[in-house]
Amino acid sequence: MKLLVTGAAGFIGSNFVRLVLDTDPTVQVTVLDALRYSGNLSTMADFLPRIRFVRGEIQDRGLVDQVLREYHVTHLVNFAAESHNDRSLLDNSSFVQTNTLGVQVLLEAARKHGLERILHVSTDEVYGSIADGEFTEESPLKPNTPYSASKAGGDLLCRSHWVSFQTPVIVTRGGNTYGPYHYPEKLIPFFMVRLLSGKRVPLYGEGLQVREWIHVKDHASGIWTALNKGEPGQVYNVGDVNERQNREVVDFLLSQLGLDSTYVKKIPDPRQGAHDARYSMNASKLQALGWRPSTGFEDGLEDTVKWYCDNEEWWRPIVQNESYKAFVRAFYGRSLGDDL
Ligand SMILES: NC(=O)c1ccc[n+]([C@@H]2O[C@H](COP(=O)([O-])OP(=O)(O)OC[C@H]3O[C@@H](n4cnc5c(N)ncnc54)[C@H](O)[C@@H]3O)[C@@H](O)[C@H]2O)c1
Repeated sequence: MKLLVTGAAGFIGSNFVRLVLDTDPTVQVTVLDALRYSGNLSTMADFLPRIRFVRGEIQDRGLVDQVLREYHVTHLVNFAAESHNDRSLLDNSSFVQTNTLGVQVLLEAARKHGLERILHVSTDEVYGSIADGEFTEESPLKPNTPYSASKAGGDLLCRSHWVSFQTPVIVTRGGNTYGPYHYPEKLIPFFMVRLLSGKRVPLYGEGLQVREWIHVKDHASGIWTALNKGEPGQVYNVGDVNERQNREVVDFLLSQLGLDSTYVKKIPDPRQGAHDARYSMNASKLQALGWRPSTGFEDGLEDTVKWYCDNEEWWRPIVQNESYKAFVRAFYGRSLGDDL
């Protein structure tokens, strides 16, 4: 297999490449990544000598064409994305550019070069929020933020390219993912780097939102299973059954670090109406292909806490970056005040 992985300098993509290289050393991996704010070469340092790296945008039609041709790519997995909901509330044009238009470029290129498979990595957030029960792959798409809407746009383009051109495309929709190498802006890594820096953490409201958590290794193995065993034209949910309220997750982090609730500052929910109350997915379609998640939530979270404690040299340069500080100021400045 000659595999192009886009967006592998980020969180899930880098963990996916690690898994592929461990699982099947005969796979030849090329990574295309624009190294946007959440993409770092340091995230790929351990496997960089074993892959080919090309820096560039997935919307760059000429470059994508050149990479597919030059490296005789047979399979493509797309992780490249603007991935943070909160940022999409500040400015969402780059979300549509990458998450929707970028997918269109990849689909056209896959068709032109006759790829055996293209797998597009998507999210449970395209379904919107669910009060009871779980989403299946047949549930309607009701995205509530510009981020999730831009992802849904990509998903629908995938569907249309299968129906119209029989491009062998598969879509996976993953749940909230946690684990090592997670850029410190989303709940778990953001809270970890703040707590390890002796700072308080901002909890939105009472932290009652429910998320279904999956360890990044399980998310990556779900994508690998779908790529190898999935049917073209199909969508596969990649979820685990770990539903937790955000405040439960925060309590767990505090207890692991021996801290108490004085480290939590409850702030008015900046997402307001855009904050989905609950996500939950049925993943039996992927399980029917033989996939099973293997990391229990508390064990996985304990390992993740340890990873952030042991890998300050990875996250410290990121949080000292001016653009990172600017985002934290823009989003939390008013609510965190002196705690910023
Ligand atoms: N993190 C989660 O909890 C989660 C859950 C479900 C699905 N997903 C999806 O998984 C995918 C990966 O998410 P992540 O958390 O690893 O994101 P991330 O932000 O950590 O990584 C995104 C990567 O894409 C690169 N990138 C961004 N725009 C690009 C462009 N135009 N061209 C080329 N590269 C570009 C970035 O440089 C970065 O390396 C996304 O599609 C996301 O929607 C994430």
